[in-house]
Amino acid sequence: MSSKLIAPSILAADFANLQRDIEMVNKSDADWFHIDIMDGVFVPNISFGMPVLQAINKHANKTIDVHLMIVDPDRYIKTFADLGSHVLTVHVEACTHLHRTLQAIKAEGMKAGVALNPHTNVSLLEDTINDIDLVCLMSVNPGFGGQSFIENTYNKVKQLKELITRKGAATKIEIDGGVTNKNAKQLVDAGADVLVAGSYVFKSKNQPETIKELKALANS
Ligand code: DX5
Ligand code: ZN
Repeated sequence: MSSKLIAPSILAADFANLQRDIEMVNKSDADWFHIDIMDGVFVPNISFGMPVLQAINKHANKTIDVHLMIVDPDRYIKTFADLGSHVLTVHVEACTHLHRTLQAIKAEGMKAGVALNPHTNVSLLEDTINDIDLVCLMSVNPGFGGQSFIENTYNKVKQLKELITRKGAATKIEIDGGVTNKNAKQLVDAGADVLVAGSYVFKSKNQPETIKELKALANS
């Protein structure tokens, strides 16, 4: 069985000590850096943009997993490739021509991800799942860190896993929002492959230890 991955969300880091927090993730058991880009239009919040990602990339030595919570993401695919993103995730709710967007992401040499809001049914991916490297199931309404986990996510993980298996796809399932030691194991048991964790990691006293525990739980 392939190992389950932990992706600390930099949104919850201390931006005044960004290099310190990035080095912490570099040295920890974490697998990916999860980077949340918000435009204040698709979601009611603005996070940070290209100069900050450029700064992060100077120090980060693990996979850069970029989650675009923006309208019209096609406009920025090349920009995020040039910034060193490895996985680029767009929201299905923000894409008029999802299939074309996925091809454009891959053409830039990145893995193509699709995020689904809590209200969006996984059946919408029936015809594209074989083209998708990663599906990010939002387990909170996107826009803010520190929100509570929506319990219906477990059902969605199972539905998505069923779809992936039925179609013979190699798609990974990522869960984003409200992930803690209380739901990590159940999410993985339902079929999740990548767990994003922001507040739970960065608000903890011993961050490397929290990452280590999550990683162990996810792989238990
Ligand atoms: C929410 C973001 C998440 C967020 C998760 O819109 O997409 O990645 O950083 O933060 P926590 O783990 O605090 O819910
Ligand atoms: Zn995210």
